[in-house]
Amino acid sequence: MKTYLVTGGAGFIGSNFIHYMFRKYGDDVEIINVDKLTYAGNLENLAEVEGRKNYHFVKADICDEEAIRQVFHDYEVDRVIHFAAESHVDRSIKEPLVFVRTNVLGTANMMNCAKEAWETGDGFKDGKKFCHVSTDEVYGSLPEDPDAYFYETTPYSPHSPYSASKASSDLLVKAYHDTYGFPMNITNCSNNYGPYQFPEKLIPLMINNALEGRKLPVYGDGRNVRDWLYVEDHCRGIDLVSEKGRDGETYNIGGHNEKQNIEIVKTIIEVLREDLPEDDPRRAHISEDLIEHVTDRKGHDRRYAIAPDKIHSELGWQPQTMFREGIRKTIGWYMNHLEWMKHITSGNYQNYYRNMYGDRKVLD
Ligand code: NAD
Ligand code: TYD
Repeated sequence: MKTYLVTGGAGFIGSNFIHYMFRKYGDDVEIINVDKLTYAGNLENLAEVEGRKNYHFVKADICDEEAIRQVFHDYEVDRVIHFAAESHVDRSIKEPLVFVRTNVLGTANMMNCAKEAWETGDGFKDGKKFCHVSTDEVYGSLPEDPDAYFYETTPYSPHSPYSASKASSDLLVKAYHDTYGFPMNITNCSNNYGPYQFPEKLIPLMINNALEGRKLPVYGDGRNVRDWLYVEDHCRGIDLVSEKGRDGETYNIGGHNEKQNIEIVKTIIEVLREDLPEDDPRRAHISEDLIEHVTDRKGHDRRYAIAPDKIHSELGWQPQTMFREGIRKTIGWYMNHLEWMKHITSGNYQNYYRNMYGDRKVLD
């Protein structure tokens, strides 16, 4: 039975991962969730597991040396699954320093505390590993050429403060391995979608706006390409890498599901229209007329696309949820969790929305 220290477990992917692990291992796993509960952390995501004897929540900042050291003192941690990060590109353009602090210094602090707890004087205790959850955005932007992909060997070329801070943290994790023999894996995954995603990201923002009859703000020409993966497939990939990944290796995770943003938005409209009951008044206003092309994101990466060959051939991973099924499940989840959405969007989110979208010009 292993003990997992999950950082950022109250966020989107972290909470999905915790649910996934309890579904898979039941009582044969112990999970400690360390989360600062920033705007993106939401304990409502974990309401179903909070009563479990093998689940523990610690509210702490990953940059806080004493608090993190204490967690390693209180529990014999076998795995760190490190999700905690500032994760939204648009916020990083407005406020880069918080990204440097959390993503770079926070990761270094997590590793220092793990190293201190796991070092024996003659290497590291058996079976310990630090799994660093990262993004495909560290590789930069691909041309529209459909044969170009990100491989594990693709040089890093991040463009946004978010991706640069994630790239820095990845390099630090690699450096700890090369310098100290620190046991680790890195996963670089493409864009995730699914339940519990904060409505600042494309898919939940568009679902929520459409249900509310608000405009759907598509940046620029809407032809930027992202490679979308259902979050549960990502969680399964992380678990597999944590169990079987070769020490020191990086694994790219992605499902060969490239779509232009405009295609995603049109699919959301289509599925909402198909799935809302005939007599639901919201149907009347959900149409492509809601789409509004607005001022583009600064430094907007054109295309991301992952080659998942290594995780497929070494560990047998492949996605199980196809896009149409995944987006339908996701939309269904949001339609059934309007209260969850209301709690998030009724407070500071209104200021966020005004600040982020208020002065974007509508393009012709
Ligand atoms: P998220 O923004 O939904 O959640 C981040 C979580 O980290 C929140 O619970 C937040 O409270 C917590 N957190 C933030 N700063 C903290 C700090 N200083 N100390 C402790 N906790 C802190 O993010 P997400 O989308 O779930 O992403 C999780 C990880 O996966 C990130 O590292 C991100 O870079 C990576 N990733 C995300 C995607 C994606 O599509 N969302 C794709 C690939 C990789
Ligand atoms: P996002 O979900 O923020 O993920 P990332 O920037 O990390 O890929 O955005 C996905 C794509 O959707 C990206 O190309 C930017 C675009 N986008 C919009 O067009 N409108 C929006 O309101 C948002 C949030 C994103």
